[in-house]
Order: sequence, then structure tokens, then C-alpha cells
Amino acid sequence: MSVHKKAKKMFKRIKISKLMKKFFIKSNIKGSNNKIEAFYDGKWHQLRIKNANSNFWIKGNNNVIKFHLDTKTLPKNFNLTINGSNNYIEIIGPIKFNNTTIEIEGNENIFKIKKPARVVKNCYFCLEGLAEVNIDEDCGLNMGLYAIINNNFKNKHKLTIGKGVFIGKDVIIRTSDGHAIIDPETGLAINEPQDIEIGDNVWIGARNMILKGTKIPSGSIVGAQSVVNKKFETTNVLIAGNPAKIIRNNVFWDVRDFGRYMKETTKE
Ligand SMILES: CC(C)(COP(=O)(O)OP(=O)(O)OC[C@H]1O[C@@H](n2cnc3c(N)ncnc32)[C@H](O)[C@@H]1OP(=O)(O)O)[C@@H](O)C(=O)NCCC(=O)NCCS
Repeated sequence: MSVHKKAKKMFKRIKISKLMKKFFIKSNIKGSNNKIEAFYDGKWHQLRIKNANSNFWIKGNNNVIKFHLDTKTLPKNFNLTINGSNNYIEIIGPIKFNNTTIEIEGNENIFKIKKPARVVKNCYFCLEGLAEVNIDEDCGLNMGLYAIINNNFKNKHKLTIGKGVFIGKDVIIRTSDGHAIIDPETGLAINEPQDIEIGDNVWIGARNMILKGTKIPSGSIVGAQSVVNKKFETTNVLIAGNPAKIIRNNVFWDVRDFGRYMKETTKE
């Protein structure tokens, strides 16, 4: 084949792959009136181009996904699955993701995240109908965070994470137990899903289990591997254990380097 023909063939291939990329998002959307919009260059754009390292699977109608970006390209390593209708997702960034999935099952879920302090790494959020998640700015969402929000289907439930919340490795947050415990007399569940509220500037140590109905007040610390299952109201407490209890009051912590708070060691 002549060099000219080879170049022509290559050019054709590049054009086709560009075209495929352009309509790639659409090909993964089944349903009507689903919108993926991005805000950049000072206005909203309907987005069709996704990053090759991210997956979008949408099956349903009237879902709105909004990204606040600084470029035309969607974030890398961000997977979104929606199986339902009338869901609203807003990523107020720009935000960097690494292997993070948002899975929406059911209808009328809301998920909003503001610009975090660092890359959102290995996180999984599952919203199962009438669930709302609000994550405020400057949070550190770390390896293996697994959050299940609601599987009630009748009442709305919320997970609120305040500003500057740092979450350690392998933390599970659940507004729902996942299975109903049934009162034999009434035939109703005794363990209904409940909201979870995490205040501002909270540090949640590694391997914690945060269960339905909990409140962790602003400025507080949760010790590693605790099970938090109730509301705490006083700010700046250290809670730990299974079940978690207050073990110290009036605590203050800082996400910045440890060294600045350590005594100088004098050399002999
Ligand atoms: C909570 C924590 C910060 C407290 O550290 P500390 O101030 O040095 O506390 P101490 O080790 O002096 O412990 C104070 C008391 O709390 C208890 N305690 C501390 N951490 C606990 C935990 N995770 N679960 C249960 N009890 C705990 C101690 O046994 C001790 O009890 P005692 O007074 O009856 O002996 C630390 O224990 C911890 O869990 N760190 C989390 C580390 C982590 O996951 N980092 C991830 C980075 S994001």
C-alpha cells in the first residue's frame, strides 16, 4: 500500500474513533430526557464526551447530572450507574477521582459533592431511592469508603457530611440496616432507616462503622474500628469503642502535618 493510502486510512480511523467518542455517553443512556451538563467557560454545556477511563450507564428518565469543571472533559476514573428516574447528581468541582463509583438504584435520589481537599479515592456510594447525600467542601474521602443511603423506598433519608471531614481507610456508613427486623404484632419494621449527620471538621479513624440515626458533632474524633450507633450532641468529643462512647471532651485536632505539634527533641 502506498504511503498516501496508508495515511488516508489512518486519518479515516482517527475520525471514526473521534465520532464514536462523541456519542459514547449517549450510547450508554437508555431512556428519555436524561441530561449530562457541564459548567465551564462561564456557561452550561450539554456534554457528550466522556473520559475514556470513566463509565456511565443510565437507564431511566429525567435524570440530571451536573458537573462544574474547568475543562470540557469529564473527570477520569469516575463511574456512574443510574437505574431509575428523576435523580439529581451535582459534582461541584473540579474534582479528581480515583476508582470511585456512584450507584443510583431507584428514583428521586439527590447526590451533591463540593470540591474536596484531595483526590476522592476508592469510594463507593449507593443511593437506593429517596436518598439524599450532601458532602460539603474540603473533605478527605479515602480508600474504601462505602456508603449505603436508604433502602426504605417510602420515606426520604439523608447523609450529611460537613466541611473538612476526614475519613480514614475502610469506613462503612449506612443509613439503613439493609434488612427489616419485623415486629410480629404489627408486621412493621422496627429498624427503619434514619438520617446520619456528620458535622464540620470531624476526623473518622480507619475501619469505622457509622450506623443509621447517628450524629457526630463538629470538631469530633471517632477512634479506629468503632461502631457508632447513636446521636452525640456535644461538639469536640473523642468517641470510640463498640458501641462508641465519649472517652474525652474538649478535643481539638488538625489535618496538617503532625510535626508542628511535637516537642523538639534535644540532641546530646
Ligand atoms: C482515638 C485516638 C486518636 C486516640 O488516641 P489517644 O488520644 O492517644 O488516646 P489513648 O490511646 O490515650 O486512649 C485513651 C483511651 O481511649 C481508648 N481508646 C483509644 N482509641 C480507641 C479505639 N479506637 N477504640 C476503643 N477505645 C479506644 C483507650 O483504650 C484509652 O482507654 P483507657 O483510658 O480506659 O485506657 C486513637 O486511639 C485512634 O483510634 N486513632 C485513629 C487512627 C486512624 O485510624 N487513623 C486514620 C488516619 S485518617
